[in-house]
Amino acid sequence: MTTLYEVHGSVALITLSNPPVNGLGHATRLSITDNLQKANDDDAVKSIVITGAGKAFSGGADIKEFGSPKALQEPNLLSVIVAIEKSPKPVVAAIHSVCMGGGLELALGCHYRIAAPGCSVALPEVKLGLLPGAGGTQRLPRALGVEPALNMIVSGEPVKSEMLAQIPGQKLFDKLSSSPDTLAEEAFAFAQAIAETRPLPLVRDLPCKHRNGDAYFQFARNMVKGMAKNFPAPLKCVDAVEAATRQKFEDGMRIERELFTNLMFTPESRALRHVFMAERAASKIPDVPADTAQRAINSIAVIGAGTMGGGIAMNFLNAGIPVKMLEMKQDALDRGIATMRKNYESQVKKGKLKQDKYEERMGLLSTTLSYDDLKDADMVIEAVFEEMGVKEKVFTELDRVMKPGAILASNTSTLDLNQIASFTKRPEDVVGLHFFSPANIMKLLEVVRGDKTAKYVMATVMAVAKKIRKTAVVSGVCDGFIGNRMIEQYGRQGGFLLDEGCTPAQVDKAIEKFGFAMGPFRMGDLAGNDIGWAIRKRRYQEKPDMKYSKTADLLCEKGRFGQKTGAGWYDYVAGKRDAIPNQEVVSMIEAHRNSLGITPRKISDDEIVQRLVYSLVNEAAHILEEGIASKASDIDMVYLMGYGFPLYRGGPMLYADQVGLFNVVQAMNRFAKNPLDDASFWQPAPLLARLAAEGKTFN
Ligand SMILES: NC(=O)c1ccc[n+]([C@@H]2O[C@H](COP(=O)([O-])OP(=O)(O)OC[C@H]3O[C@@H](n4cnc5c(N)ncnc54)[C@H](O)[C@@H]3O)[C@@H](O)[C@H]2O)c1
Repeated sequence: MTTLYEVHGSVALITLSNPPVNGLGHATRLSITDNLQKANDDDAVKSIVITGAGKAFSGGADIKEFGSPKALQEPNLLSVIVAIEKSPKPVVAAIHSVCMGGGLELALGCHYRIAAPGCSVALPEVKLGLLPGAGGTQRLPRALGVEPALNMIVSGEPVKSEMLAQIPGQKLFDKLSSSPDTLAEEAFAFAQAIAETRPLPLVRDLPCKHRNGDAYFQFARNMVKGMAKNFPAPLKCVDAVEAATRQKFEDGMRIERELFTNLMFTPESRALRHVFMAERAASKIPDVPADTAQRAINSIAVIGAGTMGGGIAMNFLNAGIPVKMLEMKQDALDRGIATMRKNYESQVKKGKLKQDKYEERMGLLSTTLSYDDLKDADMVIEAVFEEMGVKEKVFTELDRVMKPGAILASNTSTLDLNQIASFTKRPEDVVGLHFFSPANIMKLLEVVRGDKTAKYVMATVMAVAKKIRKTAVVSGVCDGFIGNRMIEQYGRQGGFLLDEGCTPAQVDKAIEKFGFAMGPFRMGDLAGNDIGWAIRKRRYQEKPDMKYSKTADLLCEKGRFGQKTGAGWYDYVAGKRDAIPNQEVVSMIEAHRNSLGITPRKISDDEIVQRLVYSLVNEAAHILEEGIASKASDIDMVYLMGYGFPLYRGGPMLYADQVGLFNVVQAMNRFAKNPLDDASFWQPAPLLARLAAEGKTFN
């Protein structure tokens, strides 16, 4: 049963009971209307209270029904709300904890609303590229006032019930209960008091006007346009609310429905809904059940106080978990701590962190030069130099000192985790935690599962990731894991494009116009071109047949490592991040092109984007087929959270799905014919070829 029905004296109580947040799926909607009928048929009942069990009044639509025909199956939410409005006996919504989306729209259909203080109230549909589609854009402005309602609808942000109750003239809440604990009791008393009131008040009958409508909506559009960037939904929210002020209620409802349906089919909304689901799916590992026992992680040790070690430590300090840092020498420790302090102090200066919080966090940090001091930590994360010999020394020591049951993690970005695990007598406790730089800021965490990593270790680190607010994606062991393995192919294409006639700025501009935060050359300058150089030198040994453009090596030979040396593909002025094109680099590329006897050609932005993005897609298809990633949506999360792939396109896999895999394969076949490109790379991965032939998609 997804709702409960009870009668207390003259009041019928309908309690939504569909954990975790009383989502309004079909079964719940059906049982609301059934119980409403029952209450109206019972002569003893004079009024009706609707509330939610557990942690919410209602969080809104059932996410499992998103975009499926089930969401429209009768009674759909619109019909449920009309049934409530038409109830001959008064219906009171008793709202608490969370009242969002369809939950708020349902409440707005009730004749009266009583809310507990502390309740989070929102219409968050815009965050999924939509707008409220069950009357929210028409009823909330009537109940709350046009401006506060538009703010809520356009931002999707929750507002506390007590704040809303203070808005002058608001009719959203008839009453605020004196505390969450007394809500039920006060709602019953209220329902009894209004039992005989007629006619029953309806939000739809309230006036909805703005004194200065023309100017206000013009202003609102200007504001929203700037913020919405590539997303159409926020402006449509303005259209819908304006309709509420200018049209009759029923006409406004029709306009809302039209706008909602159109948004539902936009690629942007599809992308946002995909990301919403993908984020939840990423935390689930197919063969690690949700109830797998976990270990308690109450203290952390970090080895290495360099770029990554400091950032990693900050994540745990921010979450209130004590950290002990180990280095080889005191001055390395001092330098690492000073960097962390500088980082926190700049947050304090910007007003993002309170001084006492800063001190509290630093108070959780201790340091040591001795491994023996680490023995009590529940988990240790190694972030020392990227050399197998150094990792071996560290893991041998950790195996010696760490208590049984401790988790031993490595932040390696390229080395074989299975080999690292083999340095210990407890490979089942070893896992990769691949943070991205800056580690205290970047949301992505690749959790690298070794061949022997135990399931409870996986379950534990996924839970820890949540605690430190990372989006964790599981990767199998391979060179580069998911993200860097794909970016290598993307970088290789960038190099070929230079050889064939592009400038770095042209390539960057094309892919940035597509929506990437940064093109491959600006990204190289940020990360340090020497990192890619080191990887290529290794590749030249391991895979002598693999084709590379030599331009990036020539650049590095000039010492142009990027922002850190003030010069890379572009020039940089100290203290600024603006990339200034450099003629010497362009000449260097031209000279190299001449030396290869290549006549440059004009390459379109479309070709640039396709080659860069499809190189990601093809490598990703191999990754998926090899089981390095368990689902396509995990790969999308990696690229959205860690590599600046445009959110409104939903990640490389969803993007390829939307283009059509058949079209992607056709383009690859074309690229394979380019003698200056790498024909063997463009052979579609078997999985991609199969899906394309069958007319299927990755997701
Ligand atoms: N920099 C990045 O963008 C990045 C991103 C992801 C992962 N990683 C990985 O993180 C690890 C660290 O990288 P980094 O950029 O922080 O390097 P770094 O050079 O900034 O820091 C390494 C630190 O480890 C210390 N160290 C070296 N050997 C040690 C030992 N035996 N015992 C204790 N401390 C020791 C060094 O003194 C130094 O402070 C590497 O495995 C790297 O591949 C780096």
